[in-house]
Amino acid sequence: MKKLSRTIMICLCMTMLALLFCGCEKGAGQSTEPKLLLGFSQIGAESAWRIGNTRDIEEQAEKYQISLMLENANQMQENQIAAIRRFIAYRVDVIAFSPIVEEGWDNVLLEAKNAGIPVILVDRVISTEKEGLTTCVIGADFYREGVMAAEYLIRKADSLGLEHVNIVEITGTANSTPMLQRQAGFMDTIADDGRMTVLESIDGDFLKSRGAECMRSLLASYGEEIDVVYSHNDEMTLGALPEIENAGLKPGKDMIIISIDAGQKAIDVLKEGRINCVVECTPKLGKELMETALKLKSGESVDPVIHPTETFFSDEMDPSQIAPRGY
Ligand code: AHR
Repeated sequence: MKKLSRTIMICLCMTMLALLFCGCEKGAGQSTEPKLLLGFSQIGAESAWRIGNTRDIEEQAEKYQISLMLENANQMQENQIAAIRRFIAYRVDVIAFSPIVEEGWDNVLLEAKNAGIPVILVDRVISTEKEGLTTCVIGADFYREGVMAAEYLIRKADSLGLEHVNIVEITGTANSTPMLQRQAGFMDTIADDGRMTVLESIDGDFLKSRGAECMRSLLASYGEEIDVVYSHNDEMTLGALPEIENAGLKPGKDMIIISIDAGQKAIDVLKEGRINCVVECTPKLGKELMETALKLKSGESVDPVIHPTETFFSDEMDPSQIAPRGY
């Protein structure tokens, strides 16, 4: 009996020591204290891209033990401005936001600067005359995406031996960075190709419903004259396709369809042959955002522009090789 109680005592002591040791190790290595407080104003949930971007930022914040105040602006600039003011009042360590349009941020960003809170632009940029309102931008090279779309079209026109190519463009939100840059990259690249004519550029606001409306209107104006639909995102493309089919035409065959984002749904449609080319725009910006925010908090310098590497997927390649996209 005496021997048994001594054994129990030894076991208890060892357990207590082990618990103590584990506790110390956790305290030193994996503290659950957040490393910083990050305020992030997201544009909304207009596309699979945007939803994937929000999810990625939430996941990466958790991974990096960053406490995230996330606000969804429901596609309204005034909601983003109000969110940034709340972040300032809350004294967050770093502010990040994806500006819905480029203009109109000076006042609120001056308030953040005066409060000493660094600001990171995510996905899109702003247009301003003022110096030092933001620290850096983490987002795609939208101009390059437009160039990749146009380069595909030129190769496709060559391979089909086309002499005249009539293009309609369904653009993203007016005055947003991806709209301006995807248009500029595309137009600059086709500028010297005498076969290319842009029949019309129409604002689809990055929305599926608007993509359908725009396509109906374009078909009513130009019908079978349209050779190419260049759409600034997958959502609008997915809205446009049924309209083309309702008009008795086969997208991917009677019309060349070029899209941007490369979300899973668009890749599935590419595999069906109803989209010809999808340029990648990755929403996975969360890791760079967390690492940049941590650097800013510790006073380190950061790169002014961080572009992810992007590619394109088209009917020139074997689509069965495309890995699942994750958004
Ligand atoms: O700013 C990135 C763009 O915004 C994506 O292409 C689009 O799908 C999103 O809504």
